[in-house]
Amino acid sequence: MITTITLNVSVDKAYHINETVESGKVIRVATCNMTAGGKGLNVSRVIKMCGEDVLATGFVGGHTGALVEDLLQKDEIKSKFVHTKGETRNCINILDQDNVSTEFLEPGAPVSEEEKNLFIKEFDEILDKTNVVTISGSSPQGLDKDIYRVLIDMVKKKGKKVILDTSGELLKEGIKACPTMIKPNSEEMESLLGVGINNREEIINSAIKLHKSGIEIVVVSLGGEGALLVSEDGIYQGKPPKIEAVNTVGCGDSMVAAFAVGFERGYSPVESLKYAVSVSAANALTSSTGSFIKEDAYKIFEDIKIIKI
Ligand SMILES: Nc1ncnc2c1ncn2[C@@H]1O[C@H](COP(=O)(O)OP(=O)(O)OP(=O)(O)O)[C@@H](O)[C@H]1O
Ligand SMILES: [Mg+2]
Repeated sequence: MITTITLNVSVDKAYHINETVESGKVIRVATCNMTAGGKGLNVSRVIKMCGEDVLATGFVGGHTGALVEDLLQKDEIKSKFVHTKGETRNCINILDQDNVSTEFLEPGAPVSEEEKNLFIKEFDEILDKTNVVTISGSSPQGLDKDIYRVLIDMVKKKGKKVILDTSGELLKEGIKACPTMIKPNSEEMESLLGVGINNREEIINSAIKLHKSGIEIVVVSLGGEGALLVSEDGIYQGKPPKIEAVNTVGCGDSMVAAFAVGFERGYSPVESLKYAVSVSAANALTSSTGSFIKEDAYKIFEDIKIIKI
């Protein structure tokens, strides 16, 4: 089984409007879509669509938290969240007539020490039934910046695999525990290493540096150019064919999901790369976030170029 960790869950509402956003105006919403949000929940949906068993974990609270659990259940995704006193947040994305997006992200309720300790206790038990763990996104107020380091240490002590996909301080602290894999994009890697990255050679050198620091698999995602992988098997780029992207939000999450599936199935790093590029590129072909059509992924898979560097 694959376990996903989403500490900062939300209910994501997409408001489609037939005008532009202006302050002081009453705006009627034409259509509204609601999804269980937070990057780790996108990862959970894609793992499920790939056909693997997944358990979503993290914190939820109040009525909004119950709605998240309901939405996951509708997608037949198992979950085991710690229930917090604070209410789960809403995140609103307004998409206007020209598809320009305006986002309102609530800060989210803080997690207490007691709630954190309960999560750690339950996670320790879940680990016994899990082969692969994914950790995605931001953390709520109330948790220390080393929370991912603590969780990665727990996973590694039990000899399981863990993928970390986050940014800023959480990533800096998290890599101290040497997760099995990280998947920064180039901006995240620039901020992690405190250097400017301007070309392919600099991307490769930065990824090698992180691999040498003890991270088994370093994958740098490059949007439409695919992804670069550094592991003990060598350095490879997986390049998708040119596609007409509709919505690239959640492509990174889809890539993390597919790598977790690859680990679960015992694929080699390069096999996982090819699979993950096809699933993440297929996600760009659908308007919904954290979703793909299997036939799209199959077609893309046939046309992916794996380049040994
Ligand atoms: N326009 C595109 N065409 C084909 N594949 C794409 C495109 N955009 C993204 N992908 C696929 O998705 C993967 C991840 O995308 P990207 O590098 O944008 O991740 P990201 O910045 O972490 O995204 P996010 O965090 O918003 O989910 C890429 O490595 C690639 O395989
Ligand atoms: Mg990302």
